[in-house]
Amino acid sequence: MVNYYVSKYRREEKTYYTHTGWRKIGGKWAYLHAGGAIGADGVLVDLSEGGEALSRYRLPETCEDAARAVKMAASFLEVADKRITFPLLAAAFLVVASEILRAVNIQLDFALFMVGKAQSGKSSLAALVLSFFGDFDKTAFPANFKMTPNSLEKTAFMIKDALLIVDDFHPAQNRAEKEKLKQAAQNLARAYGDGAARVRMGADLKLRAAFRPRGLAIATGEERPDIGESGQARMLFISVKRDDIDYYGKFKEVEANKRWLAKCMVAYITWLAENWEKLKEILPQIYSGARADMQTENSGRANEAAAKLALGLWLFHQFAIDSGGLAENDAVELMKEGGKILQQLAKDNIASLQTEKPTSQFITALQELAAAGQVEIIPVYQQNKPEDGKFIGCYDEQYLYLLPQMTYKAVAEFYMKQGLQFPVSSGTLWRQLHEEGLLFSRDEVRGRWTKRRAFGCCGNRPLDVIWLKKDILKD
Ligand SMILES: Nc1ncnc2c1ncn2[C@@H]1O[C@H](COP(=O)(O)OP(=O)(O)OP(=O)(O)O)[C@@H](O)[C@H]1O
Ligand SMILES: [Mg+2]
Repeated sequence: MVNYYVSKYRREEKTYYTHTGWRKIGGKWAYLHAGGAIGADGVLVDLSEGGEALSRYRLPETCEDAARAVKMAASFLEVADKRITFPLLAAAFLVVASEILRAVNIQLDFALFMVGKAQSGKSSLAALVLSFFGDFDKTAFPANFKMTPNSLEKTAFMIKDALLIVDDFHPAQNRAEKEKLKQAAQNLARAYGDGAARVRMGADLKLRAAFRPRGLAIATGEERPDIGESGQARMLFISVKRDDIDYYGKFKEVEANKRWLAKCMVAYITWLAENWEKLKEILPQIYSGARADMQTENSGRANEAAAKLALGLWLFHQFAIDSGGLAENDAVELMKEGGKILQQLAKDNIASLQTEKPTSQFITALQELAAAGQVEIIPVYQQNKPEDGKFIGCYDEQYLYLLPQMTYKAVAEFYMKQGLQFPVSSGTLWRQLHEEGLLFSRDEVRGRWTKRRAFGCCGNRPLDVIWLKKDILKD
């Protein structure tokens, strides 16, 4: 049995790679897919650990007519409202450049989510954009919301530098199913949003095994998952209505020629490999430019995600010019039009973030900060305080004892980093936690939300701390 977090293995003296995307082979960058590698000969790839559908991530060996392939890729923009097709096309071209972007510290830390009613055409569109990476249709997606967290994680790790579709988030029939779907959506948002693996909290409040998604995901669903503000802020939602799609016209036409989308990817991959070093130099500047073009009065994460998509569009336009598929003027026009659409997408997403109760926001942030080791809460019997400045309090079997100011500051900063403002002051927060029966340190005599307690690690001096149930950190 192959272990999936091994990225290659040997059998009968042969080496098998177990992921898609860029890999240095014999000192040269090559792009792995189910059928071998673009840029290296005789390479064996085995994606079977990730299930049947992954064998469809198979690219043609060559592209005999790059100009024709690029024209077909540009036609993809016409299959539906450009509000929808621009971000999808941009995502496909962006993700293939991930390896170069990682080298210059630009992380693809978001996911796309197409929301629309049943039968609106979400899955059809998802299958068509995935056709840039192989022979896909909507009966065989690489991932969906019914998968176990482990297998979704595994797939997200194997599908490196390529798009992953996670299909079909739907209204649940019962509570248990609802919780399961919500958890899957939460995992997806966290994994892609933070470039971190699913948070698994041990009894010591530490993060367990970590491995990261290495591509970009597009989810589809009938409704927005109810995963709070910080979860939703990690996703860009795109709404899809049946009328948005030119189904019997352009859609059918491009679908019938979808082989050319994969051929376009082959030509693009070759172009990236040829221009690798040059791109590494200029992409950070292009990104800063795109970032500056986004609305600045609000520093939401959506702006960053949209700027990254604009970078994907820039890559497509440059490749289209170099390969002779589009005239320079047309490519520039296309990029301008797409840039405006991406700006609007960011704006709409920031405006529609669903607001969450401050107390739930507080708990979500505390859970994530603790799980990621960004704050330290140590056992009450521990005598030494960690020296890294992340200490915010102690815990025993029953309670967390938190330093109020440090804790509030950590949570407020957690949201600030996402371009969100924590909505209430610390006093209001403690009161609301008290009203919800979550805070146990109300001192009526002193009129405070804190009680005094001494801890070995802080020299046994009595400190004013807030008491919360320890359970709140388990999600
Ligand atoms: N815009 C459209 N106009 C007409 N027919 C369409 C359109 N889009 C899709 N179809 C047809 O409707 C069917 C359903 O589309 P699709 O499965 O892509 O929708 P969906 O939004 O994923 O639905 P669900 O929520 O049920 O998963 C398709 O098989 C196709 O035949
Ligand atoms: Mg569907």
